[in-house]
Amino acid sequence: MAAPVVNEEYLKEIEKARRDLRALIYSKNCAPIMLRIAWHDAATYDARPKTRIPGGPNGSIRNKEELSHSGNKGLETAVELCEQVKAKHPKITYADLYQLAGVVAVEITGGPSIDFVPGRKDSNQSPPEGRLPDAKLGASHLREVFYRMGLSDKDVVVLSGGHTLGKAHKRSGFEGPWTKEPTKFDNSYFVELLKGETEQLPTDKALVEDPAFCRYVELYARDNDAFFRDYAVSHKKLSELGFNPP
Ligand code: HEM
Repeated sequence: MAAPVVNEEYLKEIEKARRDLRALIYSKNCAPIMLRIAWHDAATYDARPKTRIPGGPNGSIRNKEELSHSGNKGLETAVELCEQVKAKHPKITYADLYQLAGVVAVEITGGPSIDFVPGRKDSNQSPPEGRLPDAKLGASHLREVFYRMGLSDKDVVVLSGGHTLGKAHKRSGFEGPWTKEPTKFDNSYFVELLKGETEQLPTDKALVEDPAFCRYVELYARDNDAFFRDYAVSHKKLSELGFNPP
């Protein structure tokens, strides 16, 4: 599909959608799934030049096929909630809308401001199942998945800090929140990781067990400002994988 024309009118719609998303996320208390849909739409990205379907933040997660991938369980609610905003601002692409929802979810729960550049194209083509990280695996799997996206060790750790929000549900084979205040975006995920007392996925534990990852866990656990600064940079990168801003 064609890229949207990012003119003054489009930018105005983005600002209106941003306000509508703030109100929606506040009233439905749905920041965690809004962050998760942004992450899962983007995390299918394959930076390798020969990839037939590159994936990335292109709105393809709304397609039934991709939404039914096992890693996307529960995200149909996020797609439906975003439809309410799309109906009011039909010019905005799904790709932009989902990434804007992720940015607003972080902001409204007390996290850092993340620079948002609009203009992403929508795609009807979904990547094959299996590109999202598998929570049952460890450090080498995390590296494989994040390096495929063109991301780094630091990105793995800082973005995992997104688990400061929300909780795991039975459907995923895990259960419970990562932190004591799962509606607040702060560095408590890293503090709890080091304590090791709350629910953790094998991929969370891998961040403490792997020395190169653990360096960042320790930094972010003691320095919330460093976490916010690095998170904002990595989240922007994630939200722009394969996207060349106009
Ligand atoms: C929830 C896996 C990285 C944001 C979950 C759940 C799993 C999971 C299994 C529970 C889902 C459910 O039961 O509904 C992973 C793995 C990751 C990863 C293996 C690899 C590093 C991330 C990143 C972000 C993120 C990078 C955002 C930047 C979230 C959020 C939730 C969540 C906000 C809570 C959703 C809710 O409360 O409904 N993740 N995740 N995750 N994930 Fe991740």
